[in-house]
Amino acid sequence: MDASRPAPALSSAVVHGATGYVGRHLVRGLLAEGATVLAVGRSAARLEALRESAGDDGTRLVPVVADVSADDGARHVAQQIADHGVVQAGFAAIGGWWEGSRLVDLDTQTWSSLLTSHLTAHFLAARATVPHLDPVGSAYVTLNGIATLQPEAGSGPVSVTGAGQSMLLDVLRAEDDRPAVRFHELCVVNPVVDDGDAADAPEAVVEISDVVSAALTLARSGEARTRRHELGRL
Ligand SMILES: NC(=O)c1ccc[n+]([C@@H]2O[C@H](COP(=O)([O-])OP(=O)(O)OC[C@H]3O[C@@H](n4cnc5c(N)ncnc54)[C@H](OP(=O)(O)O)[C@@H]3O)[C@@H](O)[C@H]2O)c1
Repeated sequence: MDASRPAPALSSAVVHGATGYVGRHLVRGLLAEGATVLAVGRSAARLEALRESAGDDGTRLVPVVADVSADDGARHVAQQIADHGVVQAGFAAIGGWWEGSRLVDLDTQTWSSLLTSHLTAHFLAARATVPHLDPVGSAYVTLNGIATLQPEAGSGPVSVTGAGQSMLLDVLRAEDDRPAVRFHELCVVNPVVDDGDAADAPEAVVEISDVVSAALTLARSGEARTRRHELGRL
């Protein structure tokens, strides 16, 4: 990438977890720079609210209602992306924070449900999206958090799935033979807050526009060798 020239704006992208906190800001950021966005979420009503909140930009939001943690939903997403054509970027902002029992006290049902939402959904989102990334130049960017870098007591399933999510991305990269398709993890190590709320926060935080900016920069012009970009202060 030639650092002296600004990377061109993205023209098409897929966002998984589009109706979550990080995901909906990513969608708005992409729409604002002129991209067509296939926004994947489980609730048609929440996707419609997101489209409306984007004003005129919302005409470029393509809602994809699907549960990407299951085969049927993932197949529907893959078909919708194929119908659109190749995309320049895919983002996965799936799975939020969870706190509960220590692992030794955790019931199997909760464990299985978190594996599904925080890891299987990432696997299926990637399976539905990565084959449709533009071979001429594109990126797949996954969001991750502090629990993947260090063991978080009381949030064991988030740490375990976060580590698995990182390795999933590494394997996708190792298996992909298209040199111009990049794979990046954006690891946000502090809680994310709305813009303007950082000054009053009692702990280190990251403002949401900095998360969006970092994710879009990675997608547009990340170095191929950048496996993980950490945002925030440990
Ligand atoms: N928020 C933070 O403070 C923070 C800090 C550091 C890192 N991060 C990272 O940012 C990413 C997104 O976090 P967030 O705060 O935006 O979380 P969030 O608001 O809880 O959103 C989570 C998203 O995951 C989707 N999801 C959950 N379970 C699913 C399932 N079974 N199948 C399919 N989709 C499912 C939800 O879909 P629906 O909308 O359809 O329910 C939602 O869009 C995570 O990787 C997290 O580690 C966040």
